[in-house]
Amino acid sequence: MKQLEERPVKLLDSTLSELAGTAARPFPDARAMPPGVYTSEAFLARELEKIFAQDWICIGRSASLKKPGDYITYDLAGQPVVVLRDGDNMLRALSNVCLHRMSTLLEGAGNTRSIVCRYHAWTYNLDGSLRGAPFMKETTGFCKEDYRLPSIRCEEWLGWIYITLNAQAPAIGETLKPLEDMIAQYGMENYVECFRETHVWDTNWKVLAENFMESYHLPVCHAATVGPYSRLEEMECPPGLRAFNYHWITKDASLPIGNAHPNNTRLEGKWRKTTALLAIYPSHLITLTPGYFWYLCLHPKGVGKVHMVFGGGLSPDFIDDPKGLDYITTLKTLLDEVNVEDRQCTERVFRGLNAEKAAPGHLSYLERPIYDFMQYIAERTAGIERSFAVAAE
Ligand code: FES
Ligand SMILES: [Fe+2]
Repeated sequence: MKQLEERPVKLLDSTLSELAGTAARPFPDARAMPPGVYTSEAFLARELEKIFAQDWICIGRSASLKKPGDYITYDLAGQPVVVLRDGDNMLRALSNVCLHRMSTLLEGAGNTRSIVCRYHAWTYNLDGSLRGAPFMKETTGFCKEDYRLPSIRCEEWLGWIYITLNAQAPAIGETLKPLEDMIAQYGMENYVECFRETHVWDTNWKVLAENFMESYHLPVCHAATVGPYSRLEEMECPPGLRAFNYHWITKDASLPIGNAHPNNTRLEGKWRKTTALLAIYPSHLITLTPGYFWYLCLHPKGVGKVHMVFGGGLSPDFIDDPKGLDYITTLKTLLDEVNVEDRQCTERVFRGLNAEKAAPGHLSYLERPIYDFMQYIAERTAGIERSFAVAAE
């Protein structure tokens, strides 16, 4: 019995030391993270505690909550959260758990004038205060004013909604200031979201995050879609910074929305055809091009399942273009096709990771962001110290 109890801890210890060993390798000799990092339940529990309960997590664009009462629910590291526009049109995040006998409250996304529990109808205002509770007058110890749904930290950055369970986390705008300066020329805050969906894929969340961080797979995995438009020889993969990594690619001019609109006077020179691939730790992934953007917000739902918010849209000049609607359709069709390919690739990786003979191989120089992501994961879970001696531009 004792042996059984000790097993998960031992396994976690060996996964953590393997990860620390892999992370200590210099980049020219770097290898992928060990399989246990993707397949171990104990490692996932550690990620939830040390990463998802600590860092800022993006749940989508603030413009998707337009008017008072618009809400989105989100399960953050086991804490049900509702993010909404309150009566003053302010963004607010609240615990989505009833204060009576602790049922969850809202589900999915929508609009509501108040939050009504579907168990005994305790009813909350949009600021979290308790508006009413049926048949509670006889309970003389009960005082409505004592009840208010706990607030969760919620901040907006360049049009994105971020939430965190960590009262001590520095403001998201402070954390991402270096990135904000780096991509200021795109004006990402003005990009218009045209679709937002949620999906669950059968892979580990980090496999999907890593897939997004490298464009090495574009010519092969995406041979039928975006592969032919991408020029790996023009790709730049600088070392990442503390809160994010990034790389730049250029797109062939035959994809009109991948290049700046003729009315776009903000972007100059090479920026008119440059795409930024941004990975904000832990799980906010953005493709930002001169004409469109798309993104994933990932959260684990078990070692082999990842929940994602998948959204995208156009820059304001393409939205205002007479052919704006056509561009949106073209973009969505293309991204759906690309996603089918990415889903196949990332689900295959997860099946391989579970094999007895699975062993991590070397990373290409085109996979620099994956190396930086490994350093971040190793810092959070195994306590290694990251070094930024080679500063990014
Ligand atoms: S649990 Fe919500 S009203 Fe009873
Ligand atoms: Fe891909």
